[in-house]
Amino acid sequence: MKAKELRKKYLAFFKEKKHAVITSSSLMPENDPTVLFTSAGMHPLVPYLLGEPHPEGNRLANCQKCVRTTDIDEVGDTTHLTFFEMLGNWSLNDYWKKEAITWSYEFLTSKKYLGFDVDKLSVTVFAGDEDAPRDEESAEAWKSLGIPEERIYYLPKDDNWWGPAGTTGPCGPDTEMFIEVDEIPRCGNNCRPGCSCGHYVEVWNDVFMYYDKKEDGTYVEMERRNIDTGMGVERTTAMLQGVPTVFDTDLFLPLINRIKEMANIEEPDEKQTRLLRVVADHVKSAVMIMADDRKVGPSNVEAGYIVRRLIRKAIHSADILSIEQGFMKELADITIEMYKDVYDEVERNKDFVYQNLADEEKKFRKTLSKALKKLHKILDETGTITGEDGFLLFTSFGLPIEMTREIAVENGIDVDMEDFTKQFEHHREISRTATQGKFKGGLADHSEEITQFHTATHLLQSALRKVLGNEVTQNGSNITKERLRFDFTFDRKLTPEEVKQVEDLVNEVIGKDLAVTQTFMPYDEAIGKGALAFFRENYGETVSVYSVGDFSIELCGGPHVETTGKLGKFRIAKQKKIGAGIMRIRAVLE
Ligand code: ALA
Repeated sequence: MKAKELRKKYLAFFKEKKHAVITSSSLMPENDPTVLFTSAGMHPLVPYLLGEPHPEGNRLANCQKCVRTTDIDEVGDTTHLTFFEMLGNWSLNDYWKKEAITWSYEFLTSKKYLGFDVDKLSVTVFAGDEDAPRDEESAEAWKSLGIPEERIYYLPKDDNWWGPAGTTGPCGPDTEMFIEVDEIPRCGNNCRPGCSCGHYVEVWNDVFMYYDKKEDGTYVEMERRNIDTGMGVERTTAMLQGVPTVFDTDLFLPLINRIKEMANIEEPDEKQTRLLRVVADHVKSAVMIMADDRKVGPSNVEAGYIVRRLIRKAIHSADILSIEQGFMKELADITIEMYKDVYDEVERNKDFVYQNLADEEKKFRKTLSKALKKLHKILDETGTITGEDGFLLFTSFGLPIEMTREIAVENGIDVDMEDFTKQFEHHREISRTATQGKFKGGLADHSEEITQFHTATHLLQSALRKVLGNEVTQNGSNITKERLRFDFTFDRKLTPEEVKQVEDLVNEVIGKDLAVTQTFMPYDEAIGKGALAFFRENYGETVSVYSVGDFSIELCGGPHVETTGKLGKFRIAKQKKIGAGIMRIRAVLE
């Protein structure tokens, strides 16, 4: 069965069971500043799980695009992926365990649907602990369907509890379904579902979401009885196609085969196999993130940084496979072809994808060989690589920190990862504080001119984002009595028209003489309101937020002018590219 058919059958099945089929949400969650990507089907549904009425009703089903980056360095083995799809069905305080389990059983085993052999099906249920009771109700439901007791496993929270998607929110005990793989024998007498040997493959998870995890770590039982289920499309497809890994399914083979051709490899060895998978997974993920309607391109912050890392690692891996430059466009096309009928936006946004892939490759290639040369020089001279070195390689040559670490390890250098990352962060912090001037804790110089430029800097950032798009983020700033200087992520000079638009927008706000107001609120609330933050880790629990009407809202220590009318006339005096994807603007008030 092809992946396409699996999706179709799943959604048709739940439609028959009176579920509304909803479209996939964005890969970048709208209202959750605690995570970069949508990591499960339930993620965009959190408000509804908490009680808000859903416009389509209380029974929903869909196929959701997801990205998980926690195991990004594991990609290359047989199971880990960054981009994946999840089929799911939800009960918003509607049906409960018995129905969910009965439907899962029917869909998995009925010949009309997936037709898995009933004798190969094992399930797990929650064993119970101080937070929630043992789940006999689910075990009974499975028994009533004919699953024998010896194939029902009671497991603790580590195995049989799901969520929350971020740090707090809906979660609960679950029951997971596993199919046994004949080709891989049980690894021993203790082999059970959840064991990593590969004999038991999890295909579906029904979560009973009736707990809300609070910030203090406690689980509070909710009155609402919600169900959230998730079936991984890639893994289930592999099981249906009887192939050993997700990379052998129709969701990867077209990519893997083409990459093999590009590399002139027929029978890849172990190392080559890993590289082929990395290239396939990383290009696919980068394409899917960029092809999202939220269009995130490569940058040095947040989701953009992940895109950058995925692309750069794919390029480096392709280089090791001796694949010629410019290979990503073709792989992007294969990816787009694979998903365009499932997610409309993929086709719609393809030009953005092509442009960014090409630009990023160009940018990276310019510095890659220099970066590698420098890295090897450091290794030769010092016999090690420190976080400080990693920082230099990142800021001067755009080499993602993870790649530096990996190359060091490949060269037999024993890097203390924790210390390495700590040192890197430390250097980043020092540099950030330096480039940021004195913004973080407020300005040291409260003179009239400096304060005016400070407010103008906020207006400039908002105007740039309105004109150029939200990929513009602050990279650094510096103010003197004569001018402001603002560095931001963007990869080209502004056109004269864009310069004028930005100036006009700022001058318009100045002309309106809007009040500049300061408020204090929790960090999450500020981010929820769309406040710009220079870098997340710099801020405490409660933050100071400065707003100018609804034009600008930023986390900032101040001070600022009281109303914008005091600023005079804003003019961009100069602009300059100062690094890969970083522009600098100098502006004056006249
Ligand atoms: N949210 C559950 C999962 O991701 C269904 O496994």
